[in-house]
Amino acid sequence: MSPKKVVVAINLVLVLFCYSVHQLEAQLQVGFYKNSCSSAEFIVKEEVRKGFMKDKGVAAGLLRMHFHDCFVRGCDGSVLIDSTNTNKAEKDSPANNPSLRGFEIIDNAKARLEDDCKGVVSCADIVAFAARDSVEITGGLGYDVPAGRRDGSISLASEASTNLPAPTFNVNQLTQFFANKGFTQEEMVTLSGGHTIGRSHCTSFSNRLYSFNGTSSQDPSLDPPYTTQLKQQCPKGSTDTSLVVPMNPASPSITDAGYYIDILANRGLFTSDQTLITNTATANQVNQFARNPTLWRSKFAATMVKMGQLGVLTGQAGEIRTNCRVINN
Ligand code: HEM
Ligand SMILES: *[C@@H]1O[C@H](CO)[C@@H](O)[C@H](O)[C@H]1NC(C)=O
Repeated sequence: MSPKKVVVAINLVLVLFCYSVHQLEAQLQVGFYKNSCSSAEFIVKEEVRKGFMKDKGVAAGLLRMHFHDCFVRGCDGSVLIDSTNTNKAEKDSPANNPSLRGFEIIDNAKARLEDDCKGVVSCADIVAFAARDSVEITGGLGYDVPAGRRDGSISLASEASTNLPAPTFNVNQLTQFFANKGFTQEEMVTLSGGHTIGRSHCTSFSNRLYSFNGTSSQDPSLDPPYTTQLKQQCPKGSTDTSLVVPMNPASPSITDAGYYIDILANRGLFTSDQTLITNTATANQVNQFARNPTLWRSKFAATMVKMGQLGVLTGQAGEIRTNCRVINN
């Protein structure tokens, strides 16, 4: 090959390489709305703060909403879409209904953003900002949110059921589910710390109190006094589907390492929480985070940023929904 041809070949390889790296990266940017809608992040933060003042639980709701959005079809705002006569949407899958909350905060932020900068800020980005603001307002470490996500137009209840982990999962099942989305086992343990805030419906764990398995009606791995207390809060055979208990009762509205301390005390609320001490690697990590909350806080923030890149739509893909609950015509 002549030197000229070599140069051309090298350039071609470089261009292809850069192009593929570009494709692999999510192409989100911190400060994405700096020029197009400079108040975007401020408005979302203000609406989260307003909602939180009325009900501290919305912070937990919004954190979980981002997780449930990202794990199903990527972070594309699909969790916000309402069901129609012909489509049962993600939000109406048993994984989300009746437990997922905070939708009205997203609606409020979106309404203000449409007034200020019509058609610019995606619903998926609003959810990502709101999750960060929720971590921050509950005392967790704030972080910059790369933005520029666009909104998807498909939302299927069936996909929520198959992509979201169940509270009955053991550590191997959890590891597999998170691996499917590109996360290491360590990142799975880090993200599970989200359960340091919020609440759960009794129905999500009552099997551990009343119908555990053939040998034992209650889960022997759950601290007995805590089991007794939970049975009082969640009476057997109760048909009240609105009964809830806090997940980290010592500080259910504070993003601290309390979740890991609970697990060490056999007070993890779900099987999927308590199972983290049944494996040497994950148990070591639970111990480490319980002893070093600062380490968990920073790892949690970093892993949230990673989660926020899952399967995002960017550039010309997707749309900017006008109303987060309905796809544009
Ligand atoms: C590891 C696998 C996970 C499982 C099996 C799981 C399962 C659950 C379940 C069953 C609930 C209770 C829903 C209810 O009945 O009200 C819940 C609540 C919650 N989850 Fe998870 N989750 C997991 C991971 C995560 C992750 C990664 C995050 C965020 C980073 C998260 C954040 C939350 C929050 C904040 C709540 C409380 C919601 C509220 O108070 O409204 N979870 N989770
Ligand atoms: C029930 O669970 C306990 C504790 O995990 C276990 O030792 C026992 O073998 C289980 N029984 C059945 C029938 O699966």
